Amino acid sequence: MSTFYVTTPIYYVNSLPHIGHIYSTLLADTLARWHRMGGERTYFLTGTDEHGQKIERAAAAEGIAPIALADRVVARYHELWRELGVSHDDFIRTTEPRHRAGVEKIVASIAASGDFYLARHEGWYCVACEMFYTEKELLQPGNLCPIHETPCEWRSEDNIYFRLSKYQDRLLEWYDQDPSPIQPRSRRNEVRAFVASGLRDLSVSRAGLEWGLPFPDHPGQAIYVWLDALTNYISALGYGADDDELYQNLWQEGDTRLHLIGKDILRHHAVYWPAFLMSAGLPLPTTVYAHGWWQRDGRKMSKSIGNVVRPDDLVARFGVDSLRYYVLREMVLGQDASFSDEAFIDRYNSDLANDLGNTVSRLVTLSRRAFDGRTPPEPESMPLQANAERAIAEFVEAMDGMRFQKALDALWRLLSETSQYLVSNEPWRLLKDETAKPQVATILYNALEAVRLVSAALTPILPEKSQEVLRAIGAESVTDRSGLSWGGLPVSVELPKTAPMFPRIDKDAYLTEEKNVESQDTNETAKDEAPAVEARREPTPLDERIGIDHFAGVELRVATVEAAEKVKKSSKLLKLTVDIGEVESRTVIAGIAKAYAPDELVGRQVIVVANLAPAKLMGIESNGMVLAAEADGKPVVLQPSVPVPNGTRVK
Ligand code: ME8
Ligand code: MG
Repeated sequence: MSTFYVTTPIYYVNSLPHIGHIYSTLLADTLARWHRMGGERTYFLTGTDEHGQKIERAAAAEGIAPIALADRVVARYHELWRELGVSHDDFIRTTEPRHRAGVEKIVASIAASGDFYLARHEGWYCVACEMFYTEKELLQPGNLCPIHETPCEWRSEDNIYFRLSKYQDRLLEWYDQDPSPIQPRSRRNEVRAFVASGLRDLSVSRAGLEWGLPFPDHPGQAIYVWLDALTNYISALGYGADDDELYQNLWQEGDTRLHLIGKDILRHHAVYWPAFLMSAGLPLPTTVYAHGWWQRDGRKMSKSIGNVVRPDDLVARFGVDSLRYYVLREMVLGQDASFSDEAFIDRYNSDLANDLGNTVSRLVTLSRRAFDGRTPPEPESMPLQANAERAIAEFVEAMDGMRFQKALDALWRLLSETSQYLVSNEPWRLLKDETAKPQVATILYNALEAVRLVSAALTPILPEKSQEVLRAIGAESVTDRSGLSWGGLPVSVELPKTAPMFPRIDKDAYLTEEKNVESQDTNETAKDEAPAVEARREPTPLDERIGIDHFAGVELRVATVEAAEKVKKSSKLLKLTVDIGEVESRTVIAGIAKAYAPDELVGRQVIVVANLAPAKLMGIESNGMVLAAEADGKPVVLQPSVPVPNGTRVK
């Protein structure tokens, strides 16, 4: 059986995780799930990097021991990965004895190769990076770190050196393999240029560092935190332990050894780590994949800079899968991307609520109506099969190549082809015609099966929602890639009642609410003030008038009332079925029963607020609002003065 080993960086415990750490971890999780579906022996490792001066200082600032800080942050990581449904097989901490055993073993192997020597070390050190820079690399004035833009410290001490320069040629040869182990290409070129310009030996110990692993045979020296940390990738597999079956199988003999990292730590993974492994005589990773940075305000989001996004609120409100979708769809692997709540909501509403959620609920409703609450019977032909097979083939290839955006594009193209197929075949017009049943079965089966394949393929990306969709359309859940072939939808099985899967987010309301929460956080006195709400009939003061964009956010459309009836046990409410120019008619509840008899309204045109969030009234879901003016205590329904096509926008 082929093996697939994927790792995330192990994260520092000097502060809490943010969207950047979450991103790397969700990428690895998606890949792990995808490869498990492919039947490979898959192993997914994450963990924490707990030694070094950065952690020592963060703990000292709080007046606690480094291990106490680490324990607290590690607990938060465990909790977060559980909340996000991360499917890692192991979580390594560099403070564990099994890790120390691995580090001591690799240090002994490197020592045996004669690659360590003692010398005086001087240079500019960034504590946040835990690394030395040359003067040329610093930002001036102020000798600032090029990543963190904070001052570096001048250090001069006796250190143990690693003969990095000895490996220059072998590293260059390694980068030049085809395909290159360093991905994407831009990163490979960057590293290649750095190494080709000449490597200097690397200091791999710190004098006087207390919070670190002691350097064997060198009292007073601690192991450089990066030599310590990088070794996690093999110590977690049992390198250095008596039982090293995992190490043998996944690393020594493994097929894929993939490190996913951010581009901030490319040099450590593409230069230092392979050189350490070469010196110790161990296999190298097969791929080091460096993704870009999530940014805010054009800078890397970073704990040290303090401009981080923690998407807890988005996840609590809209679910993990909506976050997974957003980050995978929005970031081209390798390039930087900008995180914004607004873009998140736009993506969610257009791709998940509309393209996926609406299509599913429409199809389920139609099939229920046509086939007595069931999926369609055997179809007569498979007009969508070729489209679906093309999309799935493209998806598989893109996923294998870690091009998630392309993979999602292929699925969403299939959704849009499915929608076009429905629009041109209009199954809703054929519902009442008994002789058209076989035709309806064919249309609905094909569309549902296309949606089934989309959802099945989404399994590694949206682990929860994909299964919900499959359940809703009467299909089996999918655990391996064989579920990605056409024809898996069972015929004539009962369709379960399900809740709406991706309810639309009211963007303006969410963003306003967030702003209020933020200003409450920053302005303590605001809490004491009485709310400035007051009813008035006076003209709206100029500074309170809304801009045209605000109005444009309200979607008013012309609709025709197809049916109307009184809502039981209510004297005020009418239930209207309106044709608003969409595939399906909508149900709208209107409080006009005292002024209008149901029959009066049928055939009449009205104006509907079309993008209003659904609301339940007397147990019925209302999807929109009919405009009416109140005169003498009675509603007067608005109507265009001449007939207009249904769906026409009112502005
Ligand atoms: O560097 N955008 O840990 P760390 C995208 N302990 N990804 C980001 C990001 C951002 N703005 N910010 C962080 C360390 N990341 C070392 C690693 S590995 C042997 C030791 C992600 O807590 C990205 O994967 O600073 C980056 O490489 C990693 O978090 C750094 O996490
Ligand atoms: Mg960092």
